[in-house]
Amino acid sequence: MNNSSFRKAMLRMQLTAACEIFPGSPEYRKYAKSFMPIDISLGHEPDTIDAMRWCPGKEDNGFFLILGASGSGKTEALKLIGNQLVEHAIPVLVLDFHGDVIFPGLSSVMMSSGFGSTVGVNPMELDSQQAHDVGLYDQRMALVEMISRVIPDISHNQKVTLTEAIACAYQHAGIFDDDPRTWWNPPPTFATVLELLEAWADDENMKSRRPTIRGCIAVVKSIFGHPIFRRDCSLSVDEILSAGARVDLSKVPDGIRYIAADTLLRKIFRALLLKGPIPVSPVDDLERFRLFIMIDEAKILSAATGHPNDSRLILNLLITEGRKFGIGLIMASQMSEHFGAEVKASVATRLVLKPMDSNQAKKNAPDMQVSPQDLLDLKGRGSGFFKPRSGQGTQRIQVDKFTDHSKPAPEPDEWEPYVGVGGI
Ligand SMILES: Nc1ncnc2c1ncn2[C@@H]1O[C@H](COP(=O)(O)OP(=O)(O)OP(=O)(O)O)[C@@H](O)[C@H]1O
Ligand SMILES: [Mg+2]
Repeated sequence: MNNSSFRKAMLRMQLTAACEIFPGSPEYRKYAKSFMPIDISLGHEPDTIDAMRWCPGKEDNGFFLILGASGSGKTEALKLIGNQLVEHAIPVLVLDFHGDVIFPGLSSVMMSSGFGSTVGVNPMELDSQQAHDVGLYDQRMALVEMISRVIPDISHNQKVTLTEAIACAYQHAGIFDDDPRTWWNPPPTFATVLELLEAWADDENMKSRRPTIRGCIAVVKSIFGHPIFRRDCSLSVDEILSAGARVDLSKVPDGIRYIAADTLLRKIFRALLLKGPIPVSPVDDLERFRLFIMIDEAKILSAATGHPNDSRLILNLLITEGRKFGIGLIMASQMSEHFGAEVKASVATRLVLKPMDSNQAKKNAPDMQVSPQDLLDLKGRGSGFFKPRSGQGTQRIQVDKFTDHSKPAPEPDEWEPYVGVGGI
């Protein structure tokens, strides 16, 4: 532990022991300045006790890519980093597609169809800021594109009809292309789009288009019939930007969690755009970073769309524009090819853990200046190579196992059996 980490640990102890102020609480965040700079302990060099650290403020950006096979330790690494960011009083948003990125100091919100889940998202909420640059038409097209990513075999005619119905729904909500003042009116929902399509299906004047309209109704129902798109209560972006949150999307189907995550990230990005860029020369990491976004299984937002290089993908937008607005992005997936070229070129920090096979090793090795065999020779859980752009090059690392200090220590008979250092 270096001097600065020791000082922060002492302050944290004082706050928790004497004043019962815990990481993640609003009172704790008042001390954020005292916890700067952000300095995350990741693990140590194997066979030594030399600590290896990630200091995002020293890097070109706060983007961090974690790669490795299933079981190699990606999620554990995310928890280790996320927990320390919260201890630094920095807001963290976790998009949890598997439901296992859980650490103390972050409140969880479950998005699912169940009664216990009350929050929703509205993909029709307008990008009013961006609308000034690209116009509403492009945003409507982006919505239809998003739908066709989820339902790839949607026909050209169905796309045209859906675009018309979406345009009509905005007009019904009093939002007009040629009047920017109306762009701030409450947006319509897909329920309106569905009502319009159903009215068109019954309209004798549109008889010839009936099969296409019915196809659109089926598409809209299959996606936007899900309860999370029908709820009024959406997540508070202000709260995410001040306190962070873990959004559990593990209980919603694939295409729907893609739309929900995409919508939420765009909403957050818009809110940060409105706050304006961070200072050109930030005085500390508190000015440099407004929010760290953690995405496990990040391929859901890139490769799984079929177009990882599409500049309109939210991940690519965050990678090209996010730094200026204070966004740090920590993404994990199995292979580097799950990400677009922009992401791979921009991330300043990488952690590559043991791959599944030689094919994965070949894909993950090049950006790390190690050979595929070096990756295959890794010993197993948490064992990997770490490469911050500011550092001396690639270093071997044994990532620490995440320990939840907020829970009581396990009884001796609950200790995990020692599994050795063979495979994963
Ligand atoms: N650094 C580590 N030290 C010791 N054990 C670890 C470490 N990282 C992970 N493990 C162990 O390995 C198991 C699998 O780790 P983890 O869930 O992080 O893998 P993963 O890469 O996220 O896999 P998947 O792709 O299937 O989600 C964990 O339950 C944990 O017990
Ligand atoms: Mg995992």
